[in-house]
Amino acid sequence: MSKGILITGGTGLVGAYATGMLLERGERPVIFDVALNERLLNAVGVDPSKVTMIRGDMLDLPAVISAIRDNDCDRIIHLAAFLGEEVQRRPYSGVRLNFMGTVNVFEAARLEKVSRVVFPSSGTVYLGSIGEGLKQIDESIPMNPPSVYAATKASCEFMGRAYAKRYGFEFICLRYVGGLYGPSPTALKATREIAIQEMIRAAVKGEAAKIDWPYGPTEVLYGKDAAKGTVLAVLKDKFKDQLFHIGNGQLVGGEEILAAIKRHFPGSRIELVKRDNPMPYPESRLASDFSRSKEQLGYEPDYPIDKAVADYAATLKRLENL
Ligand SMILES: NC(=O)c1ccc[n+]([C@@H]2O[C@H](COP(=O)([O-])OP(=O)(O)OC[C@H]3O[C@@H](n4cnc5c(N)ncnc54)[C@H](O)[C@@H]3O)[C@@H](O)[C@H]2O)c1
Repeated sequence: MSKGILITGGTGLVGAYATGMLLERGERPVIFDVALNERLLNAVGVDPSKVTMIRGDMLDLPAVISAIRDNDCDRIIHLAAFLGEEVQRRPYSGVRLNFMGTVNVFEAARLEKVSRVVFPSSGTVYLGSIGEGLKQIDESIPMNPPSVYAATKASCEFMGRAYAKRYGFEFICLRYVGGLYGPSPTALKATREIAIQEMIRAAVKGEAAKIDWPYGPTEVLYGKDAAKGTVLAVLKDKFKDQLFHIGNGQLVGGEEILAAIKRHFPGSRIELVKRDNPMPYPESRLASDFSRSKEQLGYEPDYPIDKAVADYAATLKRLENL
């Protein structure tokens, strides 16, 4: 039997898509998640009976080790984390899960002789470095995390490199750039992600909606594209670098998202309500440069906003029986 690939947070947005993509390629994904969301797997076309699923907590190191050992896994995609706004609400819990949960992955990788750990960091780790006159946002931009969430991700980048160097596994760090969005439950997600979902749900249901949209244009990344980059990074044999931007390359504002929704749902009655931008730190006004992942991983985003909206709406319909 082929070696397994452990996916922590495997029934979250990126995890569900990554699981499906690995199955399509004949791989053996093994999901480890504290709340197994079979509905999302079904909605994205994954038959849960085809996947080994373990309910477990990242903070339970023996459970992570057992999941690897019992299922003969030699690679890990570590997605389980609290996202930015949940860390802002509960910083101590966020640091425990995002930092110590990740250290548990490194410990398990060391003890079980795992060959590769793929870790999703975030474009927020360098947001504090973004000033006037910047011409390019590639992987050389210095880390300067402006939030506790971003600091957990930056700390894991450092720790992963140190563990990998000392204990001999590959640590591949992917920075998902911009706001991730997609048809998964949004209770713990960013306000922009929630707003996009509200717009698409209202359009699918044919309901009128007023959506708060205080954000400037920014890069947004569809969950399926993040999963594509992640799967390429866990499967690819050889590449030179260990840090990659996974982005979309386009800045998108609320009006453009709304226009895409109206093209697919011409009768929709959605209105954006503008306010002052609530972001406590500067947002990037430049799209990311992901030429490194293009060259070395063969990554190319498949979902510009128009195509993403169609896919998102169809998946949300299945997920919520709309
Ligand atoms: N959403 C973004 O804007 C963004 C941007 C950059 C990077 N990322 C990173 O990408 C990764 C995946 O994001 P996503 O949008 O798929 O998130 P998600 O919230 O959809 O999925 C996270 C999964 O982790 C699981 N989980 C939570 N706590 C756990 C615990 N204690 N033990 C085990 N599992 C646990 C959840 O049940 C969920 O299924 C995260 O590490 C996130 O930090 C996200």
